[in-house]
Amino acid sequence: MKDYFFQDTIGKPMDRVDGRVKVTGAAKYSAEIELPNMAHGVLVGSTIAKGRIKNIDTKAAERAPGVLAVLHYQNAPKVPGYVQAAHPTEPKPIGQPHRVFYDDKVYFNDQPIALVLADTLERAHYAAKLVKASYEEEKHTTNFAKNTDKAILPTAAKRNPRHGLNDYVRGKEDAYKNEPLKIESEYVIPSEMHNPMELQAIVAHWEADDKLTVYDKTQAVIGTQNAFAREWKIPVENVKVIATYVGGAFGNGLHTWPHETAAIIGAKKLGRPVKLMLTREQMFTMVGYRPHAWQKVGMSATPDGKITAITHEAIGQTSSYEEFTESTLQQTRMMYTSPNVTTRYRILPLDISTPIWMRGPGEATGAFALESALDEMAHVLKIDPLEFRLKNYTERDPEKNLPWSTKFLKEAMLMGAEKIGWSNRPMQPGTLRDGEWQVGYGMGVGTFGAHRGRATVKATLYPDGKVVMQCATTDIGPGTGTAMVQIAADNLGVAPEQITFELGSSLFPPSPSQGGSATVASVGSAVRAASIALKQKLASMATGNADSGFRGAKFEDLTFQNGQVSLNNSPGTKLTYSDILKQQGLPELEVTEESKPGEERQKYSLYSYSVHFAEVKVHPLTGQARVTKMVSCADAGKIVNMKTAGNQMIGGAVGGIGMALTEGAVMDVRFGRYVTKDFAEYHVPVHADTPPVDVIFVDKPDFISTPMGTKGIGEIATIGVAPAIANAIFNATGKRVRELPITPDKLI
Ligand code: MOS
Repeated sequence: MKDYFFQDTIGKPMDRVDGRVKVTGAAKYSAEIELPNMAHGVLVGSTIAKGRIKNIDTKAAERAPGVLAVLHYQNAPKVPGYVQAAHPTEPKPIGQPHRVFYDDKVYFNDQPIALVLADTLERAHYAAKLVKASYEEEKHTTNFAKNTDKAILPTAAKRNPRHGLNDYVRGKEDAYKNEPLKIESEYVIPSEMHNPMELQAIVAHWEADDKLTVYDKTQAVIGTQNAFAREWKIPVENVKVIATYVGGAFGNGLHTWPHETAAIIGAKKLGRPVKLMLTREQMFTMVGYRPHAWQKVGMSATPDGKITAITHEAIGQTSSYEEFTESTLQQTRMMYTSPNVTTRYRILPLDISTPIWMRGPGEATGAFALESALDEMAHVLKIDPLEFRLKNYTERDPEKNLPWSTKFLKEAMLMGAEKIGWSNRPMQPGTLRDGEWQVGYGMGVGTFGAHRGRATVKATLYPDGKVVMQCATTDIGPGTGTAMVQIAADNLGVAPEQITFELGSSLFPPSPSQGGSATVASVGSAVRAASIALKQKLASMATGNADSGFRGAKFEDLTFQNGQVSLNNSPGTKLTYSDILKQQGLPELEVTEESKPGEERQKYSLYSYSVHFAEVKVHPLTGQARVTKMVSCADAGKIVNMKTAGNQMIGGAVGGIGMALTEGAVMDVRFGRYVTKDFAEYHVPVHADTPPVDVIFVDKPDFISTPMGTKGIGEIATIGVAPAIANAIFNATGKRVRELPITPDKLI
């Protein structure tokens, strides 16, 4: 593999190219954009979960200082069309995304019913409090636990018999039921909210009647551009979407939401740019969340630890107007060598807003149940959980009956076990102590498809040797720009300092949304293609020049390194890229290259893998559980940047700690409204909740996945963490908690 990487920039723990502007405040996020004559918008939410608006009284708000307009369904400019956003790795949701200010109907509590526009943010907030609505209320259904019998098979599954959402049976259906050695358990995950640091915000600006520019917090530059073009029935090229910096997202930027359209409506009405930033409370109600889910796993095994059957059922909630689905049961179908596997997935429409993919999405939900069940079964069998997993390890995808492209999960498991000190794990729960604290160890496995989409990159080389690359991807935090510079540096033979990677604008060539752990695969492959295309152009100029000494040489005869091209068999014969451009009198050299996944992927099953090990300490009197050690190991193919990739794994582990111990939205079913609405009531893990996380990468390339050998990281960083912690808590205390989050009350 060595000879493939010219400069060995790939793999280096390079500092983030945008680190300095981010930490010094020079980077401008959507809510920090200032445009001349800009107005501020604040949304007013409904106070019922279902029914009709009888009356909206806006008089007091309109009279308040600085107020420019108060818009609602009766007076807002009409939106000519509404559309759906697509996620790169999932089927489109069925249904109609909520149409803000469309009619008098209320579908969920805190649904935006009015937009107050004022000259300052403070005045808009004040006036928003003066808007009063009265309703004709209907009986709402928001109690998930009481209505699981009403769950339905998703329409997407009904339409396509081979869809991953359909019921799946391998071998005999529900075979575990007739086996002597079995477990059967139910698991519950509450709704969880993404809550990135940056609040969702948009600045909407109609530059002409049919020309829209938005500075928008999104993971989907092109998806958002298409959505607004369709909504407003204007040509796609008339919509400009700018998302240069995104302050975290976790999935809530993968859909277009009502507040975005509301701001655009406001800008249309005023003929002025409008800035709209959600409040933290609105982040809990208006931009999606991980859906509340119920799961049941039945599993049987032979006394010596071979799994004979698994049945895994799941129900996830959705809204009444969109069918949100996710791949909750994927890992169960392919991870272990059980001859009999049954999966059933259902969704439960409720009078709530639409969920959206969140941190490892459905796979993280599913892995909590599956990997907890594995631990339960191992306990029944009195077999070490690591040994149990190794006994049921798959060397081939049992679902698709295909070979893995690469799979180094076993290696990851062994390295992680060594690092955490797995041999200290007591077989008998509740037997290891550290003073007053009970100590335990647990593990959980995660997997996520190694996806790749179609992306295009434009690369321009200048006579000073500098290179600028452009693509409409976003960087929501993983360090996309940095990784792209590294891939370009290696493939182009130019020092990383000479390369700038520009992203986050719809003016750049297209990219999929940044989701599904696929950005390095999709965009990185296009960066590589553009780099090679540039080298080929340089080569043809050098070899076409009679005086250059390169005449007649083929591309394979050349080495591209340190911004110069040389002859392999005569290293003294060389030319810098700058010299080539100057000789040709070119002010720049430009290429635009598309890259897409190839046919060879069809012959393999492609996944990234992770295994997480946790050491926990639980205080028997207070029920407090602390994660005291965490080791996360990943087979994510070749790692482009050890530092940013490691950071991403740590971030995923922190998300998993939140999922396991602290995060959970609480629904007050009387009102159909979440009562958790800020960081006091909805606790995301802080430093005090988080131990140092050791990250280990197998770092072996997968060239079926991408020409750089990469697979995805983002999702597997979280998938499997929550069960690792829950399993460790069982090992420490003997208490099996099957409902997240594992708060102290559940441990005393
Ligand atoms: Mo991710 S849940 O695809 O942002």
